[in-house]
Amino acid sequence: MILPIRAYGDPVLKRMAQDIGPDHPDLDQLIGDMFETMYAANGVGLAAPQIGQSIRLFVIDASPFADDEELEEAERTLLAGMKRVFINPYIVEEDGEKWPMEEGCLSIPNIREEVLRQPRIVLEYQNEKFEELEEEFTGFAARVIQHEHDHLDGKLFTDRLPLLRRKLLQGKLRDISMGRTDVSYKMRFPMSK
Ligand code: NI
Repeated sequence: MILPIRAYGDPVLKRMAQDIGPDHPDLDQLIGDMFETMYAANGVGLAAPQIGQSIRLFVIDASPFADDEELEEAERTLLAGMKRVFINPYIVEEDGEKWPMEEGCLSIPNIREEVLRQPRIVLEYQNEKFEELEEEFTGFAARVIQHEHDHLDGKLFTDRLPLLRRKLLQGKLRDISMGRTDVSYKMRFPMSK
């Protein structure tokens, strides 16, 4: 089932999400719905708060980017295997010199901005079988995970922009929260009448 994606300004996007256990109700259904919702919106990642659930869960599928011929073979192989579910994830290491990449977010349609992040992370998380894992990610995969992980801490990529840039975007962001934006997927706007 495709779920409406919460737009900028929705309080659930600002909340710190809570850990879940294997007994979480209808978890398989929820994960399936999140993938379906993400694909319908042509997204690379989707975090549970974006569909209104303040729990530590996100899904990503970076495999379409494995076709990018500008990437090195090793990175393409890595991305091909990047259809994944992350439960109770926590970044436990983050290092390297910050690098810029243009990011967008399904909760903030039609805005893309360069965001600085560190290139290497180590993530502790559980998979769909609730097996405990610790894994290193770099490059584009790390970038996608950092963006989704931020959602679980109530943070959006706009929170990482320089103050001036953020000020310049204020009007556009307010428009989005009121539903004044062109979007082809199902959304819920906090301030629309
Ligand atoms: Ni996002």
